[in-house]
Amino acid sequence: MIKIQNLTVKIADREVLSNINLEIKKGQVMALLGPNGSGKTSLIMAIMGFSDYKITSGDIIFKGKRINNASVDERARMGIGAMFQRPPTIRGVKTRQVVDLIKQENFSTDKAAEELNLKEFLGRDINSGFSGGEIKRSELLQLLAGSPSLSLFDEPESGVDMENIVLVGKMMNRILRKNKDNAALIITHTGYIFDYVKPDRGCILVGSKLHCAGNPKSILTTIKKHGYQWCITCEGERLKDKSHKTSR
Ligand SMILES: Nc1ncnc2c1ncn2[C@@H]1O[C@H](COP(=O)(O)OP(=O)(O)O)[C@@H](O)[C@H]1O
Ligand SMILES: [Mg+2]
Repeated sequence: MIKIQNLTVKIADREVLSNINLEIKKGQVMALLGPNGSGKTSLIMAIMGFSDYKITSGDIIFKGKRINNASVDERARMGIGAMFQRPPTIRGVKTRQVVDLIKQENFSTDKAAEELNLKEFLGRDINSGFSGGEIKRSELLQLLAGSPSLSLFDEPESGVDMENIVLVGKMMNRILRKNKDNAALIITHTGYIFDYVKPDRGCILVGSKLHCAGNPKSILTTIKKHGYQWCITCEGERLKDKSHKTSR
């Protein structure tokens, strides 16, 4: 689905992603963990193509096409969708207008909004005065409407209360299961969302570098026990011992 090769990205003059290699296959759900400020959101913004995120080297290949120079809307039309961590408030633009613009055939805005407990929000300016959890659900509504083949979820569970997290998990699964080839990248701090959406693989971003790839459950358990600093030490040890093979 997507192949990221030797990707280095700068914002202003600051390197936020360094030599990233990551592949997500069709039908695969990849978990991405990492501490604050490690570059997780930057990875999503770079995949989506926001102009502040300048690619200084490397390639992003989506469905076999190099998309480094494609605009955000071209990427969205090609089938990449994102649930943003901090989407902007846009005064004068109603949630319904945005969803109606995004929606694919046979999508009922009212029905989906009802399922996400967002009916009363359709007539409100997008994200204006929405709580953290309401923003997440509004982002899911837009993703559902657009039906992307690759979904990028940026901390889907943060700020969502206990009742709504079940709903968020259910809707994420619905987006993923619309087509068996659909794939996703899920960023999380806590891993709570994995009670509802099962990742196939996991990786860790620390200090703008990808450090590991493997079984998401064991990665999460290790991080909970040893902290992220462990990844850097582990990587250092691995470089010393070339016989220790890792897959990425
Ligand atoms: N527009 C910006 N200008 C300068 N630095 C930025 C900008 N956006 C993000 N950063 C910095 O880039 C680093 C990575 O940020 P981010 O990708 O949001 O991390 P994460 O999502 O892992 O918490 C952080 O140190 C952040 O402060
Ligand atoms: Mg972030």
